[in-house]
Amino acid sequence: MKSFSQILNSKPVEIKSQPLNTELVYITEGNSQVGSLLLVYGQEGASIYSVEVLPTHRGKGYGKTLVESAIQKCQMNGCQYIELNTEVDNTVANNLYNSLGFELLGIKDTFNNYRKSL
Ligand SMILES: CC(C)(COP(=O)(O)OP(=O)(O)OC[C@H]1O[C@@H](n2cnc3c(N)ncnc32)[C@H](O)[C@@H]1OP(=O)(O)O)[C@@H](O)C(=O)NCCC(=O)NCCS
Repeated sequence: MKSFSQILNSKPVEIKSQPLNTELVYITEGNSQVGSLLLVYGQEGASIYSVEVLPTHRGKGYGKTLVESAIQKCQMNGCQYIELNTEVDNTVANNLYNSLGFELLGIKDTFNNYRKSL
């Protein structure tokens, strides 16, 4: 298998470090973190990445609470919209985002592109 640096040397790939304006939104049960998402702020809006609830804790409302909290935080920070992508066949995630008022902007590859205006 090729190492990462060998792959980088053979392809026109560049990686540039950038200051990212990010926040981790997480939820705990007792002392344990059971779910989280990453909020990345841009100029006018924000993007949500890596929404995940531990398999043992799904279906209890934690996913919804995480995304609702992210929406509220973005509103407080003056964002005009919030965006995210999820796989077309991820029924649970699509139900979650539809129930929170995200609009389907389009489909790219196998991903639904969602946006919610704030
Ligand atoms: C997607 C995920 C974060 C949802 O978290 P969760 O805590 O299980 O979800 P919640 O209990 O808060 O449910 C939120 C909504 O999801 C939908 N949902 C939850 N469980 C569902 C199921 N088994 N079938 C269909 N829809 C479901 C419902 O719309 C639900 O809202 P409702 O209860 O008002 O009907 C979680 O399933 C997960 O971590 N999945 C793996 C990682 C992933 O796919 N992340 C999303 C990538 S963008």
